[in-house]
Amino acid sequence: MSNSAIEIVRTVADLRTRISAWRAAGDRIGLIPTMGSLHEGHFSLVAASRAVTDRTCATLFVNPKQFGPNEDFETYPRDEKTDAAALGARGADLLYIPDRDEIYPDGFATAVTVAGIGDKLEGVFRPGFFTGVATVVAKLLLQAAPDDAFFGEKDFQQLCVVRRLTQDLNIPVEIHGCAIVREADGLALSSRNAYLSAPERAIAPTLQQALISFRDKLQDGVAVGDAAEQAREIVLAAGFAKIDYLSLYDPTTFEEAGDLTPGARILAAAWLGTTRLIDNIPAQI
Ligand code: PAJ
Repeated sequence: MSNSAIEIVRTVADLRTRISAWRAAGDRIGLIPTMGSLHEGHFSLVAASRAVTDRTCATLFVNPKQFGPNEDFETYPRDEKTDAAALGARGADLLYIPDRDEIYPDGFATAVTVAGIGDKLEGVFRPGFFTGVATVVAKLLLQAAPDDAFFGEKDFQQLCVVRRLTQDLNIPVEIHGCAIVREADGLALSSRNAYLSAPERAIAPTLQQALISFRDKLQDGVAVGDAAEQAREIVLAAGFAKIDYLSLYDPTTFEEAGDLTPGARILAAAWLGTTRLIDNIPAQI
């Protein structure tokens, strides 16, 4: 891997200066919003951007507005230097690490709320989460004004919320959804996997296995309710403490789906000790 240093900017003014220069040169610009603690899932977004754009800008901001009062904002893993070096090595061109004031200056009073899909599933279990996400993503898109922006299917509902908000607010950007990157044993990569103890880490892949078993049962004609129940039993028997949700959902409403409609998605969130894991797979192969 090369060691090319990446340029870091911390203000909207500097970000716009760099992006304007690229735009003037006719370059197509890709944006990758992240909260840092980067792993191969994030790097796959860099690769996706490099495949369709001329310049790739990643952002790193641990967004306080998307953390609940009892969530891990203070302890969320932060390692700016390692993240910057890894992004440089992967060929990203610019890293925007905004100071908190560049995103939420004194007097900041606006919120972007995506009603409907933003109120379901993650929206139920993490009140305020999607408003925090939608607000910061809208800001980052307006600050950087990229042609393309890249999001992982790991956070499938987030991807749909972002698509909705860019359509609703006429933000001229193409949103790309990128496939989930997994460990060899199937566990979806996540910055929060670092919280798992060794025994929990051994159990964690069961979540994806349960989703696959759910999908296989649906393909075999088992009713959604029965297949979901069996998948939940697999997860709890493996040692997960609690399931927030695990079922088949309509991809436009995020309501539970009664049968295998096109695009239907199996989505789950479950607790392993004090760590909350999410995962999802398409219901049709
Ligand atoms: P973060 O959790 O850092 O994720 C940044 C991006 O990486 C998201 O689009 C996420 O879906 C994607 N990603 C994470 N793990 C992945 C995996 N295993 N495979 C593929 N993509 C993966 O999501 C956020 O940050 C924030 O909510 C953000 C959008 C930056 C707004 O603050």
